[in-house]
Amino acid sequence: MQDTSRIISANSLPRLGNRLVRLRGWESDFRKLAVERGFSELNLPLSLPATEFISRLDGATILPNAPRFLDSNGTEWSLRTDLTVFSAQFVCRHASELTFPFRLFYAGKVFSPQGLLGAEGFRLGHASEFESLEFGAEIIGDQSPEAENGLMELALSTLKSFGYSGITVVVGDVRVIGRIEKVILEKAATSKLRAQLKTQLREAVVSKDFARLAELLQHAEVDAEGFWKDNPEYAELSRVTGGFRNSYNGVRFIVDPLMTRQRTFYSGLVFDFWATDAQGMLKNVGGGGRYDKLLEHFGEARSAVGFMLRDPQTAGVDDDLSVSVQSEAPPSQSPNRPVRIALPKGRLQKWGIQAFADAGIRLLENPDTTRKLVLKSECGKYEFLLVKNSDVVSYVERGIAQIALAGSDLLDEADVQTLLRPVTFTFGRCRICLAGRPEDEHRLLGRTRPRIATKYPHMALRLLRGMGIEPELIPLQGSVELASVISFCDAIVDLVETGSTLRENGLIVFRELAQTRVQLITSRGYDAQFPETLRHWLHHWQMQGHLIGSHFGTPRGEVLKNDSDSQEQ
Ligand code: PRP
Repeated sequence: MQDTSRIISANSLPRLGNRLVRLRGWESDFRKLAVERGFSELNLPLSLPATEFISRLDGATILPNAPRFLDSNGTEWSLRTDLTVFSAQFVCRHASELTFPFRLFYAGKVFSPQGLLGAEGFRLGHASEFESLEFGAEIIGDQSPEAENGLMELALSTLKSFGYSGITVVVGDVRVIGRIEKVILEKAATSKLRAQLKTQLREAVVSKDFARLAELLQHAEVDAEGFWKDNPEYAELSRVTGGFRNSYNGVRFIVDPLMTRQRTFYSGLVFDFWATDAQGMLKNVGGGGRYDKLLEHFGEARSAVGFMLRDPQTAGVDDDLSVSVQSEAPPSQSPNRPVRIALPKGRLQKWGIQAFADAGIRLLENPDTTRKLVLKSECGKYEFLLVKNSDVVSYVERGIAQIALAGSDLLDEADVQTLLRPVTFTFGRCRICLAGRPEDEHRLLGRTRPRIATKYPHMALRLLRGMGIEPELIPLQGSVELASVISFCDAIVDLVETGSTLRENGLIVFRELAQTRVQLITSRGYDAQFPETLRHWLHHWQMQGHLIGSHFGTPRGEVLKNDSDSQEQ
């Protein structure tokens, strides 16, 4: 039967009408698909008293970041930040009236104080700052793999009915990280060391920094290569993902052994859904996973698995996408416009250009003889942006460039959680040093608050505090050595490469505080969109000795070995 509401409102309210009509279409398509598969619809309240979310296990709130408000009676209410927790609360409240396994679905608004949060808790930077729409389904009380399969099938059918193309599912299992954490923390002697290692591990996992992860394993005297080979959770993850691949043609499945969640209640398989936007770039459009540890906080220890999806309008993928657009074809791996690679001008530019040339990507013009800031590759698939060192992160974070080269000093200082650092190079190692005039070295230790000039105030504070020094920082943008030469400070914390700047200015290194490395950074989703390209580059860089060995002690390394003939650029 024809849906007349689409015609009437599209005619009377051309712009808003079209949006609403499409939204209503997606909603009814999702409802139909879910009902056909035996899911029951839940109409959940927009807010509930905050006390509903006090954990029965530990007394802490289960919705720590939820926007809250007080009503006229002084009762505190929590707005729903996601529908999973609200539906879990509902199920536990009504457990005696329900038959398990209970399959439920919903569609509705969610609210977030930090803007729209992606499946991994990062800011997507589009759609409403505060409100977004979620379509989701959960199966409560079913521990079997059929529950995951059933949800995957409903999610993929829904994404196709929404008109998404290039659907890619990245699959992980939080138990893989759980095991890594266990072996890394096992030998830590003090609680302080455990806390430090936990933070470092979290940072390495979130940024997919395999080199740092291998260092942490090495520190715990664990052989990284053997660890991955013998890891039962990783083997199971690969097996399950293989099963999905066989079941769903036209959808890409990628294993991500370092996939994690901000929420601690996830307990097993987790997955993120991605689809291509109008430019052919992947955007996150939802996610889900097994969360057996959530319901016990509401007093009902029941297993659960679920997903949430965004429609194309909410995901900002394609405002004008029509519901009738369907893609059964395998997703295209090439975006319509060139992939942008940001290279910092200065010391890293030459290395970067050489590294990409070694991976088969050559520039049309010689950067030494042109002042152009955008340089195209011969193959036409890449565009190199020559940017200021300190701007690299902004270019990638805002999606202007998909890839960049950056020093780990800059990345650590910026403390960005939204970027991935999947590759660490052997070239370009530098040191972060405490340095100054030889005659200032002893005086420095005697001062209660030494004045320290630096380009890295966050890093300097962290490193100096680690040495028991509480500094007064003087933040500078460059030529930091000058501050010491003219006694504007007691010492500097700065990058040292060859040491010639220090030498020529009569300064010496007092203490080496940290080592820096050159890393390839990508926006989240790039590794999902182009895993073959990344592996292809890794292969070439490994052959040229550009990679630190630990990349080949990772699952990616294993895949690479079987994939050395991966496609040309
Ligand atoms: C860095 C660093 C030192 C110099 C060290 O500055 O801040 O000044 O390089 O290199 P060297 O040990 O090989 O002498 P950069 O060249 O990035 O310029 P800036 O001072 O303007 O930041």
